[in-house]
Amino acid sequence: MLSPLSVRPDLQGHGVGTALVAAALETAGDRGAPAVFLEGSPYYYGRRGFSSASALGFDRPSTRIPDPGFQVALLSSYQPWMVGRLIYPEAFWTTGTVGLRDPELERVEAQIASARTGG
Ligand SMILES: CC(C)(COP(=O)(O)OP(=O)(O)OC[C@H]1O[C@@H](n2cnc3c(N)ncnc32)[C@H](O)[C@@H]1OP(=O)(O)O)[C@@H](O)C(=O)NCCC(=O)NCCS
Repeated sequence: MLSPLSVRPDLQGHGVGTALVAAALETAGDRGAPAVFLEGSPYYYGRRGFSSASALGFDRPSTRIPDPGFQVALLSSYQPWMVGRLIYPEAFWTTGTVGLRDPELERVEAQIASARTGG
């Protein structure tokens, strides 16, 4: 899991996030990890090596994660039998870092529905 990822607000927009994502993918690949998952904007991470995890056969750890935000980067040791539900370690649940809650979840899901219907 890569997320949650953040860059200090006064340093955002200068390539730090892009460099962190690239370094994480390189380090995970070097360690033999088959894939890196995250929750985040497909517009941001889609241009940095990630794509829809659901489309590749993975199930979200929680429906509080909007489907387009559930993403994965497959690495060189990934094999096609590796599908199924992503299970978060306990720390994600105890620190409340899984997905979104209303009203933010409702707002994002409305945006997704609107984009799907061309609205
Ligand atoms: C998202 C974040 C990690 C990106 O780091 P960064 O150092 O600002 O990003 P970079 O400078 O490498 O890239 C800038 C690009 O990201 C885009 N971007 C920044 N925040 C974004 C967001 N929340 N959603 C989508 N795109 C975003 C910028 O528009 C810019 O786009 P461009 O490449 O087309 O110009 C950082 O902005 C951040 O900490 N945001 C708050 C926390 C957050 O939303 N984290 C994501 C959840 S895991």
